Amino acid sequence: MKVYEINGEFGIDRLKASDRPIPVPRSNEVLIKMHAVSLNARDLGVIDGFYNPNLSTSLIPVSDGVGEVVSLGENSNKFKIGDRVSGIFTQSWITGEPTQQNWVSTLGSPLNGLLAEFVVLPEEGLVHVPERLTDIEAATLPCAGVTAWHALIEEGKIKAGDTVVVQGTGGVSLFALQFAKLYGATVIVTSSSDEKLNRAKEIGADFGINYKQTPEWDKAVLALTEGRGADHIVDLGGSATLNRSISALRVGGHISLIGGLSGFRVEGFDIIPAIVRKARLQAINVGSRDMFEAMNFAIEHSRFHPIVDSVYPFERAVDALQYLMKGSYFGKVVISFKQ
Ligand SMILES: NC(=O)c1ccc[n+]([C@@H]2O[C@H](COP(=O)([O-])OP(=O)(O)OC[C@H]3O[C@@H](n4cnc5c(N)ncnc54)[C@H](OP(=O)(O)O)[C@@H]3O)[C@@H](O)[C@H]2O)c1
Repeated sequence: MKVYEINGEFGIDRLKASDRPIPVPRSNEVLIKMHAVSLNARDLGVIDGFYNPNLSTSLIPVSDGVGEVVSLGENSNKFKIGDRVSGIFTQSWITGEPTQQNWVSTLGSPLNGLLAEFVVLPEEGLVHVPERLTDIEAATLPCAGVTAWHALIEEGKIKAGDTVVVQGTGGVSLFALQFAKLYGATVIVTSSSDEKLNRAKEIGADFGINYKQTPEWDKAVLALTEGRGADHIVDLGGSATLNRSISALRVGGHISLIGGLSGFRVEGFDIIPAIVRKARLQAINVGSRDMFEAMNFAIEHSRFHPIVDSVYPFERAVDALQYLMKGSYFGKVVISFKQ
């Protein structure tokens, strides 16, 4: 079978296409023929060596994907041949709160990922995908989708009438926008591009703020909420956004600490504005299998479709990663294994 692997050298251009034997499922494992994978900002970090600069063995990157069960190991009875499944991002986080040990079980680093024609995964680390989504759409769910669900629904306990701010128009942000609309919230999107803001409005955003033209976007959020502030802010920017997220929050509001699109260290962080707002800052690390299944149930019973920007064939995986790197996409970049 064909795989892509990081083999001794970092960088998209150094990613190697190679042949490996099709793996054989052991007890409680299943063999999956991959249909599609989707890309996340994290995959670029893994391939560039940012996540594990000391990587000493070869690694198959990419955490998110969907495929079809083609063979069952001994004692595997949770799935049947032909089922469409996705691997959960953190393979050992099934339910409840995570433990430190869970973090070493994430797909695409440190565990081998899904940029391979076949993969073997434990049946405990799989979910059925929503039947009403195509493979391309379902491939986008495991990281960006579950993260947004965890942030707004599991931790944020969002309700109709709430105001939600989502930052940028990347993968997590567009899922958060769509989930917030499913729950009847008002959504404010920030973006560097007016064109992307218009597209965000087409999929339900109520207001858009161009954070390049309006760097003090927190003041614009306060103006849009008549001085009250937003109930939930999905903070994806990190360095450049966290202080403003606190300024834009209502008293008792909730900030999901998720990303570092502009860096992970926050200069000049002052806890007083957070205290004055009795801000709830909740860090998010993707989510459990229970959360993934709850999200899939909601998707199955809604009209929700993930936003897909583009689909590349498996043979052009490197082009797909280069395109992701440019940052001009709106929605998820997907790689399809089907001809
Ligand atoms: N903690 C977790 O569990 C978790 C899970 C998933 C992702 N993440 C992290 O969350 C972040 C987002 O991930 P993603 O996959 O959604 O990324 P992505 O798809 O690559 O998002 C890219 C978009 O982010 C926006 N952006 C960049 N800098 C910004 C800034 N200073 N302020 C506001 N928006 C900005 C841009 O939107 P415009 O082009 O519209 O300006 C850009 O298109 C990344 O840092 C990722 O590592 C964390």
